[in-house]
Amino acid sequence: MDSSNFYLKNNLAQTNPYMMGIDVDYAKGLYIYDKNGKRYTDLISGLGVSALGHANKAVNDALKAQIDRHLHVMVYGEFRQDAQIQLGNLLASTLPEKLNTSYFVNSGTEANEAALKLAKRVTGRQRIISFRGAYHGSTHGSLSVSGNETKKQPFQPLLPQINFIHLNRYEELPTIDFTCAAVIVETIQGDAGIRIPEQKYLEALRAQCDRVGAMLIFDEVQAGMGRAGTLWAFEHYNVVPDILTLGKALGAGLPIGALISARENMEQFTYDPILGHITTFGGHPLICAGAHAGLKYLLSTNLVAEANEKGQLLHDILIAHPLVKEIRFRGLYFAIELETADIVQKIVERCLEKGLVTFWFLSCPNAFRLAPPLVITLEELRAVALEIIEIFDEVANS
Ligand SMILES: Cc1ncc(COP(=O)(O)O)c(C=O)c1O
Repeated sequence: MDSSNFYLKNNLAQTNPYMMGIDVDYAKGLYIYDKNGKRYTDLISGLGVSALGHANKAVNDALKAQIDRHLHVMVYGEFRQDAQIQLGNLLASTLPEKLNTSYFVNSGTEANEAALKLAKRVTGRQRIISFRGAYHGSTHGSLSVSGNETKKQPFQPLLPQINFIHLNRYEELPTIDFTCAAVIVETIQGDAGIRIPEQKYLEALRAQCDRVGAMLIFDEVQAGMGRAGTLWAFEHYNVVPDILTLGKALGAGLPIGALISARENMEQFTYDPILGHITTFGGHPLICAGAHAGLKYLLSTNLVAEANEKGQLLHDILIAHPLVKEIRFRGLYFAIELETADIVQKIVERCLEKGLVTFWFLSCPNAFRLAPPLVITLEELRAVALEIIEIFDEVANS
């Protein structure tokens, strides 16, 4: 299929000229099927979304039941809606007490927008610290705190008073001072190519925020929901943020974002000004019903803990190949670093031809990503890893 300009020719916007072009028929479990019956193994979970695989029965049943009950009835926060309440309660049961209150929005970037606003509101300050390599979304506020300058340049001016520091550089921590409303950081940086903070660094970051009264925001839009081998990535560190943002896998295949903080913080959206953050579709009952069923299902399994064993297996098979320079991973959240961007390109293309969906990173050209659904079995993962090794061999010998 000629995928160049395919969307544009169909009256749809397109964001790159190199679409993968799979003509999707349906998807089930680990697999996406095209209209010619070709099967693709989803090794990226639609960019971190389909952690439960495709067409999870518990999720689909909950969605069908909610469709028959009601869809949209009122904007966020006005009516009492069971699906929202169930999801809020279930999330709170998995989180520390200071993260007891959820505000549901429609995407990861919206969650981060709202988090920045909440931090400004609570502290009465304006300055925000973020990190080089960070990706927090594509809307103006989230883009302002994202670290890829090339992607930001044409859209200036963005938010003022944003400063960037580097992960694991302790000497830059004093940049966080009494003028700062917040520090926003991905608990594990995703699009920078899976960059993992040191234990002591996150502890020092927490301590510096406490010292100066800045709110610490952990963006777990991609790293949360079991992806990194604990339900919330911050559990690896035992460092708790003041605000947690979620998205992607939280919706079990449907669009959602969440901003989570302490009740007393979230309450500040109710006065000075009233309606401090609003959204028509946030907390949509259908999406919340699906998300609730998805999280409940995840919690009823061992999939999160098993992600560590599976990740180690994937690492051990792939690292043995001479084409691989480095592997950075936590759970089933992987960056495979190769020699050049050109080799990465060949690997991703060849994988796709062979029916394996892998993908690039926005800010790490020499690596490709793997983030398979957590439901993949050890045997399936081993088979996939061996297929990738064959592709490495082919590309190395070409
Ligand atoms: C860490 C992180 N934050 C925020 C976002 C933005 O989420 P969304 O694309 O749902 O707006 C992403 C998306 O890739 C992300 O990886």
